[in-house]
Amino acid sequence: MTSANTGSHLDRQVPVDDRAQDASAASPSGDAAPPVNIRSDPDSPVARDHAYLWHPFTSMDDWLQQDPLIIESGAGVRVRDIHGREYFDGNSSLWVNVHGHRHPRIDAAIRQQLDRIAHSTMLGLSNPLAIDLAERLVKLAPGGLNRVFYSDSGSEAVEIALKIAYQHHVIRGERHRSHYLTLANGYHGDTIGAVSVGGIAQFHALFKPLLFQTHWGPSPGMLENGFSRPDAALEPFVNLLSENADRLAAVILEPMIQAAGGMALMPPGFLKGVERACREFGVLLIVDEVATGFGRTGRMFACEHEDVHPDLMCLAKGITGGYLPLAATLVTDAVFEPFRTPDSVFFHGHSYTGNALGCAAALANLDLFEENRVIECLAPKIDLIRRRLAPVTELEHVAEVRRLGMMIGIEIINDKAGRIPYPPEQGMGAQVCRRARDLGMITRPLGDVVVFMPPLSSTEEELNAMLDILIQALVDTTSGSDTNGDAD
Ligand SMILES: Cc1ncc(COP(=O)(O)O)c(C=O)c1O
Repeated sequence: MTSANTGSHLDRQVPVDDRAQDASAASPSGDAAPPVNIRSDPDSPVARDHAYLWHPFTSMDDWLQQDPLIIESGAGVRVRDIHGREYFDGNSSLWVNVHGHRHPRIDAAIRQQLDRIAHSTMLGLSNPLAIDLAERLVKLAPGGLNRVFYSDSGSEAVEIALKIAYQHHVIRGERHRSHYLTLANGYHGDTIGAVSVGGIAQFHALFKPLLFQTHWGPSPGMLENGFSRPDAALEPFVNLLSENADRLAAVILEPMIQAAGGMALMPPGFLKGVERACREFGVLLIVDEVATGFGRTGRMFACEHEDVHPDLMCLAKGITGGYLPLAATLVTDAVFEPFRTPDSVFFHGHSYTGNALGCAAALANLDLFEENRVIECLAPKIDLIRRRLAPVTELEHVAEVRRLGMMIGIEIINDKAGRIPYPPEQGMGAQVCRRARDLGMITRPLGDVVVFMPPLSSTEEELNAMLDILIQALVDTTSGSDTNGDAD
């Protein structure tokens, strides 16, 4: 990624040198910020981080000039750094945490499993927790997704879905079905298959020579200079689908909201329209619920918003409540059936597939969803966020507040009336997040979209405290931020 447009979870890191010196910095615990000049000590965590680590989606050039924030513990919706300073986890540790950190139930489930066994392979063997979890996922997912293939990350869940779809056709004598149709502005992970169906040039363009054949329809929530465009996307998408139907292995998309693409919202009916077109033209539909799954949009799965039943579904992130790397690709009987012929092995499997500790965490996660009626309890929280953010839309430098459930993106803009974005090199989204961190909440931007994705377990009081920080960070950073010479 370029060091210019500061992009995503995904974003390059923001300088934090001034964090500790900021006298106004106050953590949720009220602790004072610590002195940070410990880089000169070669044994300090900062020096050793700089010496040995390579951070993901990070300009290492920037990183090596900063004192990184190093998190060593957490509880509930807060994390704590090595100096004892606390921060709200405003992006759920990159969209994964559900019930808070160190939840006693999930902690206990993992410990209990440790007393039995940490891991045994799924290649040629099985384990009770992987079986229990598969059954639970099948019962929870949209009807028809009856078979579960495990892996370790969202990217792998996607990679597996793409490969299963292709092999499904090959077994059925349709080897020519090797193309995929997806949406511009989509994100499905970082492995080469997932990148092949990615639609964010900043992340994906470099790898083009390595990628397979993909067609992109326009993004239904395509952003133009910070603003959503009214829907005109379904028709061109369906046209692409009908034109290429014979050579498509599958359609793949993020349901309802393109998360890493800036929390771009699909207009109502788009997802259902895609499902209908897939059925009409006989093309498999893969829905990537890696970001949206497990309650994040206000429903257990985003597909439920439009009663969509995909042929394959990808799950990860929240599946373990944000504890351990586990992912799953669910498929229908019809997708699975051709693999029951004697020669039709799916040659794919990772060493830690179906890991027992991950499955234990995932089962406890699902128990908590049920016992705490997490989905039912989200409505007032979502409403609180809506109410608190309504006036934010009116701020001079806020173009849009885009929300679906507990997934929120606030697009900031240089000149709202003229629809002129900030120069990318200004890194304004990153600056807002740095200010939020100064004030005691961690989040990351997607370019100039400030993300707010708190753990589902956040209480209304905690949400209010986080929103106070978010709004103050927006105001503090964008006031007087015009770069056209007319300071406001
Ligand atoms: C929709 C979607 N799919 C796939 C992925 C990749 O997941 P992972 O980072 O676990 O590989 C992400 C990550 O943000 C995502 O948002």
